[in-house]
Amino acid sequence: MLASKRILLIIGGGIAAYKALDLIRRLRERGAEVTPVLTRAGAQFVTPLSVSALAGRKVFSDLFDLTDEAEMGHIELSRSADLIVVAPATADLMAKMAGGQADDLASTLLLATDTPVLIAPAMNVRMWQHPATQRNIATLRADGIGFVGPDEGDMACGEFGPGRMAEPLEIVAAVERDVSAGPLQGKRVLVTSGPTHEPIDPVRYIANRSSGAQGTALARALAALGAEVVFVTGPADVPPPEGVQVVRVETAQEMLEAAQAALPVDAAVFAAAVADWRVEGAAERKLKKTKGGLPKLSFAENPDILATISGARSGRPGLVVGFAAETDDVVENATAKRARKGCDWIVANDVSHATEIMGGTENDVTLITADGAEDWPRMAKAEVATRLAERIAKALT
Ligand code: C5P
Repeated sequence: MLASKRILLIIGGGIAAYKALDLIRRLRERGAEVTPVLTRAGAQFVTPLSVSALAGRKVFSDLFDLTDEAEMGHIELSRSADLIVVAPATADLMAKMAGGQADDLASTLLLATDTPVLIAPAMNVRMWQHPATQRNIATLRADGIGFVGPDEGDMACGEFGPGRMAEPLEIVAAVERDVSAGPLQGKRVLVTSGPTHEPIDPVRYIANRSSGAQGTALARALAALGAEVVFVTGPADVPPPEGVQVVRVETAQEMLEAAQAALPVDAAVFAAAVADWRVEGAAERKLKKTKGGLPKLSFAENPDILATISGARSGRPGLVVGFAAETDDVVENATAKRARKGCDWIVANDVSHATEIMGGTENDVTLITADGAEDWPRMAKAEVATRLAERIAKALT
């Protein structure tokens, strides 16, 4: 709930500005007070009248509007909120923020503020991927700016890819997280989850029984404690949680690239069940049944994402947590795995068939740290997630 939380909402100039109208409603439904600021470009997409009607208050737009300065100076306006939300955050607004420019009301407020800032980027996929924007993103992250989205999908410009603004309810979840002042506030955490699919040909693949339930629960629990979560997920059975940045991948190779792209992070948790092998030279066309015999598959080793990130010379997260699914000698094997992979903690679970853990709702884990093995009682995966998120919060603060 956002009862009496004060949100300063800056609406930038992009087609996604129409979603900002719904965002105002959703925030107010939850009890927030929304003070809207509409950039000049934003006003090309939504009108000041609809914005102020939905917000139930005046919309600010001009830095040199003397009435506004008489009522409330721009410095005061920038500091009178619990959170500043920029939605949509255009490439231009992000460049201004990264460069410290202040040539209109929105950019001046963003430079003058000492309030946390959450941005919901929205732009064409090529603009998002442009090295200049990527540099600005890195700068803004280093400055402590929070991100929600962008999502991947069809865009108004007819292209497909990352750049679509997060949906209003995803932004609301991120706002709730940011104003809740949990112990992971200001921390960025990477979570990998789900299985990977390794193609044999365009229609067949090798997979495993991971449902993604534990990783999803963990991402949700970390976000609930205030963390900014990057959730890199293979094709899982359960939907990703709201309020996290979702990066969907298929293969181990893609998962490694997405994990590396998410750095720097304060902590990384590798809950994905990554396939150890891929089919070498997967066929470009569907393999046909032939009279000549069975197809021969040869395998190549997949990169070990956990070991790679644990051993990174620069940018290693302060805390790296791996999972170990074992069927026998759980503690012994998991302790050896912790040393071999170079991670800080291993969450070991017994996945022998009788325990019904893989794909089930409960988990039976042992936490292995530098101090030894800690046996947790069998409990719901959501509870394991909450306990682990609390331990991570303790370790980071
Ligand atoms: O070696 P094993 O698969 O049992 O190790 C499990 C741990 O390593 C998990 O945390 C899993 O996410 C991670 N892992 C990985 N990349 C791989 C294989 C496993 O990140 N290729």
